[in-house]
Amino acid sequence: MVYNVCMALKGILIVNAFLRSKQTDDTYELLLDGAKRAGIDLRLTTNADFFVSLDTGLVKALPENDMKDTGFILFWNKDVFLGRALERMGYRLFNSADAIEACDSKALTSEMLQGICAMPRTVKIPMTFNTIGYDDLSFEEHIGKELGYPYIIKECLGSYGGQVYLADSSDKAREILKMIEGKDCLAQQYIRESSGRDLRAYVVGDRVVAAMERNNADDFRSNITGGGSAIKYDIKKEQEQMAVAAVKGLGLDFAGVDILFSDDGPLLCEVNSNAQFRGLLEATGINITDALFEHIKMTVL
Ligand SMILES: Nc1ncnc2c1ncn2[C@@H]1O[C@H](COP(=O)(O)OP(=O)(O)O)[C@@H](O)[C@H]1O
Ligand SMILES: [Mg+2]
Repeated sequence: MVYNVCMALKGILIVNAFLRSKQTDDTYELLLDGAKRAGIDLRLTTNADFFVSLDTGLVKALPENDMKDTGFILFWNKDVFLGRALERMGYRLFNSADAIEACDSKALTSEMLQGICAMPRTVKIPMTFNTIGYDDLSFEEHIGKELGYPYIIKECLGSYGGQVYLADSSDKAREILKMIEGKDCLAQQYIRESSGRDLRAYVVGDRVVAAMERNNADDFRSNITGGGSAIKYDIKKEQEQMAVAAVKGLGLDFAGVDILFSDDGPLLCEVNSNAQFRGLLEATGINITDALFEHIKMTVL
């Protein structure tokens, strides 16, 4: 599309219709405010305002959603089938559906960033079905031998630290595995030096725009939602390179990258395609939406 200089760039923000909380509403408001500051006409919609036909591969916006002159879509969503259908129709999504999918599963992220970012030793836990579960947990012995105790168990789909567990013994590991049986999960070396402490770097395009250190003295997980506190962090070159390499490796435009501190240098923890950024704004005074909309304008105009 060719833009007339007088014509404001128009975009659609697509959020999840069913994930509603004070926190998500706050994020959407920050995004809409940021767009306004950047002179972008951004309209809020949800994934339920669209109708995806898997037989034709196409998507229809429900009548009240006029897609005319849409220059980009800010896809704050994990509904990747909708995302791919929109991409097939020619829309540029920030982030792309495939990149969001790669971030959504912690196992897929690790697989894709292998050889690109240093990570803690990570083992995929054998998959089972949620109608069957585990009737034999003897495989756990090999994981314990490989990683040592304690080690971390993570559900591949999870956020805010809620699906991350610490197994300090074989019995505990088996108890956790029974509790989450049927869910896709992985086991990971516990990085003791980073206990209750990590680095969140927010990348837009090819640079880190803001970084904070998160700490929780009462929990090995440093997530702010779980009670962690945050302070501005002066990111080191090596950490910045890792965060940018992770974003590039997954094909993202922007993301919140979690990095663990270790005696052997930074280790990638996970990458969040739809990271909250209120905590980062409070800790650093930097509103990442400015860089985000600048990146979008540079890409589509
Ligand atoms: N291998 C690890 N060793 C030590 N701490 C970890 C490890 N993995 C995760 N953590 C801690 O747990 C937190 C949550 O883990 P993360 O993988 O980021 O999941 P979530 O998506 O729930 O944020 C991290 O921010 C970090 O503080
Ligand atoms: Mg995290």
